[in-house]
Amino acid sequence: MTLNILVTGGAGFIGSHTCVALVEAGFTPLVVDNLCNADADALVRAAEVTRSRQPLVFWRGDVRDGALLDRIFATYPVHAVVHFAGLKSVGESVAQPIGYYDCNVQGSLSLVSAMQRAGVHRLIFSSSATVYGQPERSPVCETAALQPCSPYGQSKLFVERLLTDLAHADARWRIASLRYFNPAGAHPSGLLGERTSGTPNNLVPVLCKVASSASEKLTVHGGDYPTPDGTCVRDYVHVMDVAEGHIAALRHLEAGAGASTFNLGVGRGTSVLELVRAFASACGMEVRHAIGPRRAGDAAAYWADVERMRTATGWIARRTIADICGDAWRWQQSQQPALAAAA
Ligand SMILES: NC(=O)c1ccc[n+]([C@@H]2O[C@H](COP(=O)([O-])OP(=O)(O)OC[C@H]3O[C@@H](n4cnc5c(N)ncnc54)[C@H](O)[C@@H]3O)[C@@H](O)[C@H]2O)c1
Repeated sequence: MTLNILVTGGAGFIGSHTCVALVEAGFTPLVVDNLCNADADALVRAAEVTRSRQPLVFWRGDVRDGALLDRIFATYPVHAVVHFAGLKSVGESVAQPIGYYDCNVQGSLSLVSAMQRAGVHRLIFSSSATVYGQPERSPVCETAALQPCSPYGQSKLFVERLLTDLAHADARWRIASLRYFNPAGAHPSGLLGERTSGTPNNLVPVLCKVASSASEKLTVHGGDYPTPDGTCVRDYVHVMDVAEGHIAALRHLEAGAGASTFNLGVGRGTSVLELVRAFASACGMEVRHAIGPRRAGDAAAYWADVERMRTATGWIARRTIADICGDAWRWQQSQQPALAAAA
């Protein structure tokens, strides 16, 4: 008998890779996703990656639908929940705060209420380094000031606080909030990756788009920051490392009750220009780029202190920037026929 793990948002970028890691670690993922930013086909491909004979169990639905969650918990014994479902664009959250608080905060409240009703008390929550806002120094540790600069970041912090209060109120709860830095890359098979529609928000999907189009050029937002090459520095962590971080966190939950927060990053910064060079070398062609003006609200540099996660769970990121770029490019290339057909 394997343990069932309910994965909300499991058809999304990090969720689908985590489903693969869960199967490989001997768990059975059960996915609920409303497909607002995903394609159910990702779950077919996730099953293909793991060579599962069975398709992944999937409910199309919203985590704000308490009756649906009750039905899921009544149908399957669930050992723990990994909660990815949410909206994730900082810019969109500034324009649409109600939608973001509703989906991210109300969605989480609905989920933990259903878990409480079902007697399921193990939870991994997808938080974000955006809860730190613009950190004053790096590496950023979990005790740094929490000053999110957007409704998106606020929504993550609200949920973290809700989860801390839950664990204080009821000693049965075992909760880990994982603050991801910059998840990037794709599964090395080229079967799973980050789905982007319109203009991507994250740098690696932008690089994929630029490299696969003759007409596009990357605008680097600012070349006069106080960093070694003048461009912003971030902590890019391979999505499969992030996925495996969830397995480590799930195992850590067995250590005891309470709510903890952990940074999930590599613990090292990479500049925009370093990433551009690594990507050019992965795809074997020049990536056209030009330095533009700074973008409002961008911090010059930050990367994670990963010591708490390493000490508590033994997890460290194993993959390199070259792996991130090579795997993302493989995924991008596998998308070309689909993109051409959709055009
Ligand atoms: N990707 C990043 O850079 C990043 C960084 C920090 C934190 N996070 C967080 O990690 C989580 C997963 O991120 P991702 O990059 O995989 O995003 P994603 O958009 O690819 O995945 C989120 C999934 O949740 C689903 N979803 C959204 N709202 C839902 C709802 N109310 N009910 C059911 N399903 C819903 C979407 O359809 C999607 O499949 C998110 O909570 C995000 O905020 C992501």
